[in-house]
Amino acid sequence: MKFFLDSAKVDEVKHALEMWNIDGVTSNPRHVRNSGKPFLAAITEIGKLLAGTDKTLSVEVNPHHTDPKAMFEEGIKLAAMSPNFVIKIPATEAGFKALWMLREKNIRVNLTLVFSAAQALQAARLGATYMSVFVGWKEANGEEISYLVGEITRIYRNYDFKTQVLVAAIRNARQIVEAGIAGADIVTAGFDVYKDAFDHPYTAKGLKLFSDNWDATPYQ
Ligand code: E4P
Repeated sequence: MKFFLDSAKVDEVKHALEMWNIDGVTSNPRHVRNSGKPFLAAITEIGKLLAGTDKTLSVEVNPHHTDPKAMFEEGIKLAAMSPNFVIKIPATEAGFKALWMLREKNIRVNLTLVFSAAQALQAARLGATYMSVFVGWKEANGEEISYLVGEITRIYRNYDFKTQVLVAAIRNARQIVEAGIAGADIVTAGFDVYKDAFDHPYTAKGLKLFSDNWDATPYQ
């Protein structure tokens, strides 16, 4: 299973690449705003960090677009900026049409804001590279999330769809694990979620115990 970082902050992406060998990056308008940089500057800088690798940065088109042609044209423009960019398009009727149009030009699409298996199925039928299902938002809305990812992965395997199941808006280590159990291809989570997930208080406790014993034992 691949781990993507959900962020548009250069220092976080650098750390995630250098220390965790993260497999890719996802951004959205909120992450770009939080980076404190203009949209094009933020995505260009992250694109440079990924240059020469097969790691992708998912870049979202203007969320105000309601016309597939506008999404398509912005997608073409953004995709031309870097071979690492995958274009994020929302799971609306216009978005699905734009996905189809971009696929005909061989542009990779991350179909985002997916909340149901039916939306996920349509994303795969139309050739999305990634399909981002937002489990954290569903859970915050009181909806079940334990079966949804498993249903989607089963449907994709039934028909041998190549679309990768990207479980997004992950809030904790347990959700990473559950995505893996359900057969997801990728999870994307924020910097602090990974920091917590890769740590455990017993690791530090064990290291202290072993250090104390090491110090009390002659080496030779
Ligand atoms: C995924 O690609 C999204 O950017 C992301 O997971 C959105 O959710 P969040 O920012 O609330 O985690």
